[in-house]
Amino acid sequence: MTTFAFENENSVFRAAQAGKMAEVDAEYEAAYAKLRADGVQDLPMLIAGEAVTADDWLEVKDPSTGQIVARFPQGTADHVDAAVASAKAAQPSWEARGWQKRADIIDKAAVLMRERRAHIAAVMGIENGKNRLEAYYDVDEGIDFLVYYAATLRAHEGFNLKLGKPFPDETCTSVMRPWGVFAVVGPFNFPAAIPCGMTTGALITGNAVVMKPASDAPWSAYEVMRLLHDAGVPKDVLHFVTGGGRVVGQPLIDHPDIGGLVFTGSRGVGMNNLGSFVGNRPRPYIAEMGGKNAIVVTDNADLDKAAEGVMKSAFGFSGQKCSACSRAYVHDSVYDEFVSKLVAKSRELKVGFPWERDTILGPLINQEAVDTYLDAVAGAKKAGGTFLLGGNLANQGDLSNGFFVEPAIVADLPDGHDAFRTEYFVPFVALARYHDFDDVIHEVNQVEYGLTSGIFSTDPAEQQAYFDKVQAGVVYANRHRGGSSGAMVGGQSFGGWKYSATTSRGAGGPWYLLQFVREQSRTQVE
Ligand code: UN1
Repeated sequence: MTTFAFENENSVFRAAQAGKMAEVDAEYEAAYAKLRADGVQDLPMLIAGEAVTADDWLEVKDPSTGQIVARFPQGTADHVDAAVASAKAAQPSWEARGWQKRADIIDKAAVLMRERRAHIAAVMGIENGKNRLEAYYDVDEGIDFLVYYAATLRAHEGFNLKLGKPFPDETCTSVMRPWGVFAVVGPFNFPAAIPCGMTTGALITGNAVVMKPASDAPWSAYEVMRLLHDAGVPKDVLHFVTGGGRVVGQPLIDHPDIGGLVFTGSRGVGMNNLGSFVGNRPRPYIAEMGGKNAIVVTDNADLDKAAEGVMKSAFGFSGQKCSACSRAYVHDSVYDEFVSKLVAKSRELKVGFPWERDTILGPLINQEAVDTYLDAVAGAKKAGGTFLLGGNLANQGDLSNGFFVEPAIVADLPDGHDAFRTEYFVPFVALARYHDFDDVIHEVNQVEYGLTSGIFSTDPAEQQAYFDKVQAGVVYANRHRGGSSGAMVGGQSFGGWKYSATTSRGAGGPWYLLQFVREQSRTQVE
């Protein structure tokens, strides 16, 4: 097997190892204080080298306080047209620059993102409510995507290969070429990392990009686009448009000059795109659309590790991750002991303002998410579920203007209840008992999604059997630091099966970049 050298950024882990967490805190707090002092920012779209504003503004509200923190233009189809036209005209010369130069620019972007880490992390805290450490992980993941994709491209020499000689006078090569202009549509939950990774995948392989961020969290993505420009990506090669899905997103996806689409978001929107984008004409559509991720805790598991792994994946970023654990199946013989450990650990998690040092659960992103949470709680109660923890709003005192809810653990639901099937994207985990290993695997696979999954078992044969039989793209055994979540670039390629994704070539993995290129085999006869 071959590989190439790559080291994860892992800035928090490294700082902790070096006893330097105080420096991380000081840096974050300074960046946060500056943001607050700067007040509400009016920020532009970035189209064809211009900072473009519009007549209408999209307000970005801090989900912890309800206060406006930034405004971005409410773009229109005309802005999309201008961006796509400029991207289309600029793309051939970007391709012609060659993969070495593009990789160098992307490496430079990694340096800039490292320099701006604290600022982007602080933006995330007030934009989408991500807590301090998780915001650092998010920026670090973005840096990892940049470095990893540059390294991948170099390791494969731009994916150019000499092929065979069918006849003595024929010289044949395979050249992987860009599709043209990629539309990149981003999510609110990893607002720096995921736009960074998707945009880089398209750019580094020679495509031009028009990027549209989630309207709940456009600011982090804006920072990423700016640093890509500052690193040397030409402004007519990379464009940034903001606005609602209907007024900007749809015209972008429907634009005839878009050669490929890369999307991370909800299944509803993702599946809609499938019909309208790929149904329209053949071209790549790389989508990641969510999960209903299970963790299995077997009778021989280390229960402390299992409780930590479930807790971290259920409640990290308040359950708003495609990789979140929202159902756990626990062997009968260890159920009570596991549950008491899980509840005891989870009870300690602080709900609060994300910028405060000890907060684990910040707010949900918006009122719709709160409504989803309350509906899920009501539905579970009606079905006879027992809430071992949570199930209420957590908006007392200072938190009264934010979308805060308690982490929820529910037991005693009937088999096959909606809480074992539907992705809620809130901090809500349903527990069930199991007795037989084959039965539990069958149950784990009963969902339409297939993104991540985990098992806690000290038996290697059981781990292997789980890996072989579970229908998911990212699988973990005994991962206490995140039983189903927290994939790291270059180690855990992140992609789903079934309704979770369209391509099953994971982000941050060795095959990701190949999705952004099309092969041209070239034959020259002497
Ligand atoms: C997502 O929520 O869309 O594995 C992605 C993880 C992260 C990626 C989550 N690296 O939790």
